[in-house]
Amino acid sequence: MTHEDFAGKSAVVTGAGSGIGRVCATMLASRGARVLVADVSVEDAELVAKEIGDAAVPWAVDVSDADQCQAMVQHAQEAFGGVDVAVNNAGIAGEQVATADVSIAGWRKVMSVNLDGVFYCMRAELQAMSDRGGVIVNMASILGSVGFANSAAYVSAKHGVVGLTKAAALEYAASNVRVVAVGPGFIDTPLLSAAPEGVRASLEQRHPIGRLGTSEEVAELVSFLASSRASNITGSYHVVDGGYLAQ
Ligand code: NAI
Repeated sequence: MTHEDFAGKSAVVTGAGSGIGRVCATMLASRGARVLVADVSVEDAELVAKEIGDAAVPWAVDVSDADQCQAMVQHAQEAFGGVDVAVNNAGIAGEQVATADVSIAGWRKVMSVNLDGVFYCMRAELQAMSDRGGVIVNMASILGSVGFANSAAYVSAKHGVVGLTKAAALEYAASNVRVVAVGPGFIDTPLLSAAPEGVRASLEQRHPIGRLGTSEEVAELVSFLASSRASNITGSYHVVDGGYLAQ
């Protein structure tokens, strides 16, 4: 089944050089959008933009830098005439240690990319959308609503993303800007490739469906939420987790 949900629309996807963001950018483009493929790795952004073709423009951004986020949105406005959809997806895993052992630098790094970065992008996107409407999809995690050992900064940042989503949704609902958050369970992407085999097997078992999710399964939800078919959905957090949070 093909949708043309995004014909004539434009989108910005951060962290689009790999994993979930790459598939989101590809799926939005396949459904009609022009897409700014933004990533801190310009090589990866260029590769993905090349895979997508004419509908894509690569862009280098470090989302932990507010000025770079502003410049990214400004470039999308100039290139596409506006921004209709933003997927704030860039994120990192961080140190896997108990809370008392988290380094201050490690804490700051995760917070600066996973929470500050979402805020900086949203701030610029909301400025761009407040007159014309739009949709912002923030990539949280199941760890935006439950804890996970040895991941204090990640869990805190993702809970923050869910709160930020709700706060902004209330402010901009009347301006026709929808803001939602997505909560994937553990997804088979390069983010998890550093995990030892034993850890991976135990992560699989934590999901009632008995496997990790795929980036395509997350991108389907993102694409639906970003489309006008989700016109009554804002301020909410949507999990795609193989049953993880039902336990
Ligand atoms: P990934 O590591 O495959 O891709 C993340 C992308 O973000 C990379 O291309 C990387 O270069 C980019 N990136 C990292 N720091 C950046 C920065 N400062 N500025 C701009 N781009 C930056 O990871 P994956 O798995 O696709 O994760 C994407 C999002 O999904 C993240 O926010 C992650 O927390 C979230 N997520 C991932 C889950 C998983 O199990 N893989 C589960 C739940 C949420």
